[in-house]
Amino acid sequence: MSNQLLKGKRGIIFGALNEMSIAWKVAEQAHEAGATFVLTNAPIAMRMGEINNLAEKTNSKVIPADATSTEDLEKLIQESMEILGGKIDFILHSIGMSPNVRKGKHYTDVNYNFYGQTLDVSATSLHKVLATAMKLDAINDWGSVVALTYIAAQRIFPDYNDMADAKSLLESITRSFGYHYGIKKKVRVNTISQSPTVTTAGQGIKGFTEFINFSEQMSPLGNASAEACADYCIAMFSDLTKYVTMQNLFHDGGFSNTGVTQQVIDKFGE
Ligand SMILES: NC(=O)c1ccc[n+]([C@@H]2O[C@H](COP(=O)([O-])OP(=O)(O)OC[C@H]3O[C@@H](n4cnc5c(N)ncnc54)[C@H](O)[C@@H]3O)[C@@H](O)[C@H]2O)c1
Repeated sequence: MSNQLLKGKRGIIFGALNEMSIAWKVAEQAHEAGATFVLTNAPIAMRMGEINNLAEKTNSKVIPADATSTEDLEKLIQESMEILGGKIDFILHSIGMSPNVRKGKHYTDVNYNFYGQTLDVSATSLHKVLATAMKLDAINDWGSVVALTYIAAQRIFPDYNDMADAKSLLESITRSFGYHYGIKKKVRVNTISQSPTVTTAGQGIKGFTEFINFSEQMSPLGNASAEACADYCIAMFSDLTKYVTMQNLFHDGGFSNTGVTQQVIDKFGE
């Protein structure tokens, strides 16, 4: 994409861990589309160092921030405005983590400290980002904030575990904060509900390979790739989608509106 759709826009991109990350693809495409931005991730994720390659490639600075810490977020947003030379036009929240999933705890037997962390990292962090940005008046009018979610917020996918609860909360925060930020500054807030995608977070889910194959066969267009998700994010950051806010936008090849496909029926006849 070299249409300069984001020319002159400034952003903050959360969650680029490695080349597979959806946020990584968004950063590459935002750079090509003419945006300038700051990359951020949890201090612990910095140790792997891969984000520095992306920073070099996209001519951007990296500021570590734990998205659950309002202190870190304040520093991140303030420094980003200084580095980028003005208020922010777009933010990508591409953050998810469940200690219960990581430790193999069953949904009916979760550790509640872990459960709290899942919600804080994967959902409340969006509220914290928005509240901090609003307090600092850091987002320009008609700015756009996108968070990534999954259809387990609406329907049961057993192995998605407590991340399903986190995604429901994330989508609720999107609606509620979208209302208040819309009224106050015309800032829009949306979630993109992405197909299962091979990334570090995706692969943490039990039975992911079988599941991604099932999803592929249940989607008339097939699973959406990370690159295609990045395309959609760029469109949502651009001025071409100015009146879209408080929405959960499915980017899933049609999966969410499909009851069954012939391919799946045929499997049962085998
Ligand atoms: N991969 C999929 O199948 C899929 C499908 C739908 C939605 N999503 C969502 O997309 C988003 C990005 O995930 P991904 O698949 O690119 O995987 P990823 O593992 O590359 O990205 C997750 C990111 O969250 C960051 N993170 C974790 N804790 C943090 C904290 N405390 N502060 C700041 N950052 C923190 C990680 O460092 C990592 O960069 C997540 O919200 C995920 O739930 C993924």
